[in-house]
Amino acid sequence: MTTLGTPLSPSATKVMLLGSGELGKEVLIALQRLGVETIAVDRYENAPGQQVAHHARTITMSDPAQLKALIEAERPHLVVPEIEAIATPVLQELEAAGVVRVIPTARAARLTMDREGIRRLAAETLGLPTSPYQFCDSLEELQAAIDAGIGYPCIVKPVMSSSGKGQSKIDGPADVKKAWDYAMSGGRVGPGRIIVEGFIAFDYEITQLTVRAVGADGEIETHFCDPIGHVQVSGDYVESWQPHPMTPTAQAESRRIAQAVTDDLGGQGLYGVELFVKGDQVWFSEVSPRPHDTGMVTMITQWQNEFELHARAILGLPVSTALKSPGASAVIYGGVDASGIAFDGVDEALRVPQTELRLFGKPESFTKRRMGVALAFDADVELARARAKQAAALVKPRTA
Ligand SMILES: Nc1ncnc2c1ncn2[C@@H]1O[C@H](COP(=O)(O)OP(=O)(O)OP(=O)(O)O)[C@@H](O)[C@H]1O
Ligand SMILES: [Mg+2]
Repeated sequence: MTTLGTPLSPSATKVMLLGSGELGKEVLIALQRLGVETIAVDRYENAPGQQVAHHARTITMSDPAQLKALIEAERPHLVVPEIEAIATPVLQELEAAGVVRVIPTARAARLTMDREGIRRLAAETLGLPTSPYQFCDSLEELQAAIDAGIGYPCIVKPVMSSSGKGQSKIDGPADVKKAWDYAMSGGRVGPGRIIVEGFIAFDYEITQLTVRAVGADGEIETHFCDPIGHVQVSGDYVESWQPHPMTPTAQAESRRIAQAVTDDLGGQGLYGVELFVKGDQVWFSEVSPRPHDTGMVTMITQWQNEFELHARAILGLPVSTALKSPGASAVIYGGVDASGIAFDGVDEALRVPQTELRLFGKPESFTKRRMGVALAFDADVELARARAKQAAALVKPRTA
């Protein structure tokens, strides 16, 4: 049985979000609607989620001492990581000591913050299909790995990075040093290890949102959302849509892979499993133990969007992954480097039929920072894509 309390009272059910960007903001809104007391943590003040939570805290989440002190002071029932760059050993320590429950588990947060942990688990422990790969600590090792079998083209990524940072494609020997140097500049914790992956010439890629929630009998059940198709530019998502058509064999294989990974990582909550598909063949790429940026489309396509699914699942509540309508999302970038920017054309954008907007409220804009998203629904997913892109393009961020 799940019992929820009253926020700001001794009965409160308290949840702490570690990371309060646009994805955390929506999880916080879903929690607020259930009367959960929320604590939004980020590295800077007035982060999107901090603007809708009961409490806002600003710390360096990758600093073990700061993270531990905050969790011990606040004593939330649940800690929900929303970003990868967190001192996850502290989460493991506090979870093991019974101080907090980490969503989905501290181990899942730890394994997925590092490409090496999750890739070795998926490929070597679970035997799932992935691109060929090697981990390298120097330019010489990278060249040797390519020559020994990875071949060209291939992709180099820092093991600790996200959103395409430090990631580049190598088409031939002339690109190797450039890719190495770029990776060294783009990692999260300074220079370090990289993964080099053989390039998969996929037909399309999807995010398979997968929810682990408690069923009526108290056992964990796995629920699958319809596949989300997306387009990535320089490792960053620019458009997504749902459902993406798949052959029955590719769909079944995607679910098999998603089930295997999420069964192993365990816990309760929503996962975003990234997969490459060519015909009936499916490769595991990576997994987020939390809502996925490409899944923002579910704010217009599902009865329970991915954030509501996450909120329900972590609280032990039932979920439904049913589709409401096909639809699409298109990212709105800042376009300028400035703080406190203005958005022109919001009215024109919303005049595009069957659209919605989310402006995240980030205090500072960068040219390539995601500042909002346009959403559109239609029975015809291609029409929805066109409308989402049209609406996104009509929003014009500018210096205020
Ligand atoms: N081995 C590969 N073969 C072909 N394309 C790839 C490969 N690896 C990555 N890509 C492309 O680059 C994109 C980003 O890669 P990946 O998801 O590993 O990086 P990321 O930095 O974690 O991105 P994000 O945080 O946005 O998910 C993929 O979605 C895919 O389009
Ligand atoms: Mg990815």
